[in-house]
Amino acid sequence: MELAGKVALVTGASGDIGGAIARALAAAGVDVAVGYVGNADGAASCVRDVEAAGRRAFPIQCDQANIDAIDPAVDAVAAHFGRLDILVNNAAWNIGIPFPELDALTTDIWDRVYDTNVRGPFQLSRAAARHMRAAGGGRIVNIASVAGLSPGGSSIAYATSKAALIHLTRCLAVALAPAITVNCVAPGLVENTRMALRLPPEVAQGARDRAILRRASSAEDIAEQTVTFCRADSVTGQTLIVDAGIFFH
Ligand SMILES: NC(=O)c1ccc[n+]([C@@H]2O[C@H](COP(=O)([O-])OP(=O)(O)OC[C@H]3O[C@@H](n4cnc5c(N)ncnc54)[C@H](OP(=O)(O)O)[C@@H]3O)[C@@H](O)[C@H]2O)c1
Repeated sequence: MELAGKVALVTGASGDIGGAIARALAAAGVDVAVGYVGNADGAASCVRDVEAAGRRAFPIQCDQANIDAIDPAVDAVAAHFGRLDILVNNAAWNIGIPFPELDALTTDIWDRVYDTNVRGPFQLSRAAARHMRAAGGGRIVNIASVAGLSPGGSSIAYATSKAALIHLTRCLAVALAPAITVNCVAPGLVENTRMALRLPPEVAQGARDRAILRRASSAEDIAEQTVTFCRADSVTGQTLIVDAGIFFH
């Protein structure tokens, strides 16, 4: 798909990786709706960068754990720009709960993780697909995690929510073909993100040491792969791991 002149909604664009994705799409000629929920400053900074790249930007506040918030937010983006071609389901919520501490993983936490990380992306995809089909096609890219592929990460709820997002990618690829492709990026440790900076230094260093490329990936690496999925015409249902070579060996 030729990206110049297209319109994208990037959820969680107030955050580290979503912001990098929004900036990379803008550099590729895409107008960007900057999704956020609480971090208005992060969203404003992203809006400024998209505009500095010569593209239009539109901050859109939406709590994607709230069933009623999603359709109006997506419709507002499409109404603002007159079309919607790309959805990047990047936003997620997590909290650190060691796997063995089963009782600490309360129903409220479980539901918040799943509402945000699984039901939200499904609803956003459904709402966005209506507009993409009207425009003749589109692209959905989900941002999961290697925690969805092997048992690790911040909590059992987070890891299984990312596994669900990876399979949602395949299911939506079937449901939305042939007009819309649906793909997924599964990052490992992403350097210089708040999530990574919260890790004990020895855990982060361990990830770099285990990577065959002897580094962690960057937010720009995740953004670049996201843009590649948006350009691709013959790739759908795929999950690509971007972790500098830890997971496969
Ligand atoms: N950082 C890593 O090392 C790493 C590794 C693997 C996977 N990932 C995945 O990469 C994605 C981005 O992570 P990040 O490191 O950039 O995290 P981040 O900086 O904490 O950003 C998370 C974003 O999600 C948004 N968000 C949270 N709850 C939301 C809700 N209910 N409704 C709408 N938006 C909500 C936040 O909005 P506000 O800030 O406006 O509240 C924020 O923009 C996530 O899917 C994460 O699971 C990250």
